[in-house]
Amino acid sequence: MNQLLINTKVTKGHIRKEIQGHFSEHLGRCIYGGLYVGENSEIPNENGMRKDVVQALRDVQLPVLRWPGGCFADEYHWKDGVGPKETRKKMVNTHWGGVTEDNSFGTHEFFELCRQIGCETYITGNVGSGTVQEMNEWVEYMTFDGISPMADWRKQHGHEAPWTVDFFGVGNEPWGCGGNMTAEYYANEYRRYQTYIRQYRKDAKIKKIAAGPNADDYKWTETLMKNAGKMMDGLSLHYYTVPHDWKHKGSALGFTREDYYETLKKTLFMEELLSRHGAIMDQYDPEKKVGLIVDEWGTWFDVEEGTNPGFLYQQNTMRDAMVAALNLNIFNKHCDRVHMANIAQLVNVLQALILTEGPDMILTPTYFVFKLFKDHQENELLDSHLLAPDFTEGKFTLPSIQESCSIAPDGTVHVTLVNPSLDEIQDLDIQTQGLSPRHVVGRMVTGNMDDHNTFDQPDAVEDQPFVSFTVKPDGLAVSLPPCSVVHLAIK
Ligand code: AHR
Repeated sequence: MNQLLINTKVTKGHIRKEIQGHFSEHLGRCIYGGLYVGENSEIPNENGMRKDVVQALRDVQLPVLRWPGGCFADEYHWKDGVGPKETRKKMVNTHWGGVTEDNSFGTHEFFELCRQIGCETYITGNVGSGTVQEMNEWVEYMTFDGISPMADWRKQHGHEAPWTVDFFGVGNEPWGCGGNMTAEYYANEYRRYQTYIRQYRKDAKIKKIAAGPNADDYKWTETLMKNAGKMMDGLSLHYYTVPHDWKHKGSALGFTREDYYETLKKTLFMEELLSRHGAIMDQYDPEKKVGLIVDEWGTWFDVEEGTNPGFLYQQNTMRDAMVAALNLNIFNKHCDRVHMANIAQLVNVLQALILTEGPDMILTPTYFVFKLFKDHQENELLDSHLLAPDFTEGKFTLPSIQESCSIAPDGTVHVTLVNPSLDEIQDLDIQTQGLSPRHVVGRMVTGNMDDHNTFDQPDAVEDQPFVSFTVKPDGLAVSLPPCSVVHLAIK
């Protein structure tokens, strides 16, 4: 029998809400059409933001939003996106489809979106094609509360009070689309740029994030930590789950069992990445003050046929739900070092939580996983030990169960469990040491590996009650269906 021992009296770190963060880029229909439709749209909106989408995001307690990119950030000139919309300068979005960007969604609109969602703000500045002055002035524009050229300009544009910038990223992927720099060169650039991110708001310090490695580039981490580790609050990490290879990524729908297991196996590589990058960071920052910020992660499949290849639109199935849950559990387990993570991307792009088509909106299986995990936010990670053998399918060996457990301030224990097998039910005996359960509520997301929601059938996959458990004096016995994610709230 599989066993999970939860020591409810021993905590192992704080699970920051930002671990369940998100990313929205000027890419395809993420911003335009997905989040923002403009004040004059017939689609119900508040100050241009879609009401249906904002409500759905509030419902999952979206904690922090990264913007404006991605690769777009290193070509974005923020001054083009403020002031009267009719006179805003247009630009070509060279990375993403070569479409014309009219800059109607800019700084003011981003803060308005975050205000409506009720989330923190994570801005990425332009190092690749921008200047130190441009970045310095953006920070002044957003956060200075006195008389200054940029603060005055903000006020002229209708926003009297400064905003709160919670996180500021100094460039994006400088090893690639952000300027093709070497680690040594970028480390110097980081040191210079970050100097001019002034802390105007003594009540709201901006946390500075350096652009970190591409997947397993451990040398990059070493160089950045060695040369600039003392000047940063976080170092980013980007890792996408691509089932095959970057040329032939594989289809988001109509995939095989082998593709399913290969995808899960690839996504579990996140565990090794966090351990190894974390170990390097430990050498320079043993107190773990610098967070590892996984600000791009998720599945990346071939774009849906018939859609603009530069828009990265893909459907989202139960396989994506499993990827989301496996990663969120991994992040919880590494919460001492992982201070934030941002799935890519929020709406209509890559592993999206939400898909839209004109006025219609559907929630994806990934959305429902975030809904199951939201109760971990701001909890303490609990000491837990799982005894469950791995299982093998073809050439892939995977854990038969994966978990993470936390305790909320009110004493409720939250457990999230994943059963990746497509065939096997997993019975699990959970012992809650130090807690005799009186009340247990379960919810789950489950289905066939390629189940997904469509605009014709929007409710094929949803979260639903989970009742396959019996409560015992020292814990509970649960039975996890194949291909499922389960959340238990135990009091
Ligand atoms: O999320 C899509 C792109 O992937 C981002 O713009 C970039 O940072 C990464 O390569």
